[in-house]
Amino acid sequence: MTNKFNRAAFVMNPVFQYLEEEDKYLVARPQPQYRFNLIGAGIIGQEHIRVTLMEGRATIHGMYDPNPRSLAVAQKMAEHYQPGLKLHVYDSLEAACNDPDVDGLIICTPNHTHIDVIKPAAASGKHILLEKPIATTVPDAHEIMLMAQNYPAVFQLGLQYRFKPQYSEALHEVLERKAIGDVKTVSMMEHRIPFLDKVDQWNKFADQSGDTLLEKCCHYFDLMNAMAGSRPKTAYAVGSMAVNFKDLTHDGRQSDILDNGMVIVTYENGVTANFNLCMFAPMFYEELVVCGDEGRLKTTEYEDFLPHEVAPTKLEIMTVDDRPSRLTTPMYPKLIQHSGHQGATYIEHIEFVNQIEGQASKAASAEEGFWSIVVAAAAQESIKTGQPVVINELLSTFGLLPK
Ligand SMILES: NC(=O)c1ccc[n+]([C@@H]2O[C@H](COP(=O)([O-])OP(=O)(O)OC[C@H]3O[C@@H](n4cnc5c(N)ncnc54)[C@H](O)[C@@H]3O)[C@@H](O)[C@H]2O)c1
Repeated sequence: MTNKFNRAAFVMNPVFQYLEEEDKYLVARPQPQYRFNLIGAGIIGQEHIRVTLMEGRATIHGMYDPNPRSLAVAQKMAEHYQPGLKLHVYDSLEAACNDPDVDGLIICTPNHTHIDVIKPAAASGKHILLEKPIATTVPDAHEIMLMAQNYPAVFQLGLQYRFKPQYSEALHEVLERKAIGDVKTVSMMEHRIPFLDKVDQWNKFADQSGDTLLEKCCHYFDLMNAMAGSRPKTAYAVGSMAVNFKDLTHDGRQSDILDNGMVIVTYENGVTANFNLCMFAPMFYEELVVCGDEGRLKTTEYEDFLPHEVAPTKLEIMTVDDRPSRLTTPMYPKLIQHSGHQGATYIEHIEFVNQIEGQASKAASAEEGFWSIVVAAAAQESIKTGQPVVINELLSTFGLLPK
């Protein structure tokens, strides 16, 4: 297939199922070259099944998950996107990691399990896509980063927000095209509905999720780090559990996570950044504003629950007078845009397979995963102490000297 235009939309369209395989050209499903196993088949695991089958160069071979309900729903998802596909179910993590028929592992288990799941996964030497956050603590994240450094296969982190259409374009404009000159300040915001329900409500407890700034906002700190183009130097933050889950208990424990926060980060190169989180807003809103010495870029993502149509993503670039300013709405084709996270997970899979095929990639490395949670951990420490946190001092409390 030479023409990549909208291929997934044609291949996935059930209206073409009446055609014999030999009559399919434009709508032919490519022969998958790679087989992946899914470790953890919850909400994002299902999204990985969907986008793997849509992308088509790989297939999902099997899965391991101790929860039968997750397995049943994931099997349905597989059949929906590829009629007749039966996923093998493993009875242990080790068996799922070491099946010789499988090329890659997609790890989608709760945050606090990443450190234990990654060990047998990495011992397999197979290609790995590890969901964010890399781990729930700085020492565990550091251990995984070291594991990834000399790993003999692909080791990709699931920080796929960088592939949302608006951030993909923003990163290109700022870092490659230099559309706004030298970056000076970065400002991010996420306002959204509370965290969704999860198996055993793991994301409502700080010891299992790493707490909200680490669990969710590592995506935004990853973007801030990339835009700043430098190592974080200090973090100061305030935040609290103001509204959400105050009456949620599980196994006799009361939920204890942040639902709002304001973080200020300084970078070693002098860039300054801030992040504002509110998890009790009645919609989804993300905003990134980057100011440089030759212009200002602003991009937003917006979705609400009202019966009206609005473009979900916008990007504006206002520049000095010697070049055009632009007002745009970056989007992927509808099927991809709607496949999860504004199409970012689909693009993440293109990058994963590209990396397996030896191509250069813009996907997140374990090192970038590490630095994203270092900012989060520093911010959360600052909330606890009320004091600014010097990142190198934080790292040295764990015996980690920055290189
Ligand atoms: N990149 C993103 O945008 C994104 C979005 C959502 C979730 N995530 C990450 O993906 C991971 C999973 O989140 P989720 O929302 O799918 O949670 P979930 O609760 O919906 O699913 C987690 C699944 O893992 C299973 N599980 C638990 N322990 C396991 C183990 N030791 N081995 C195998 N399976 C195990 C559970 O039974 C459950 O089915 C988390 O790390 C989360 O932060 C990333």
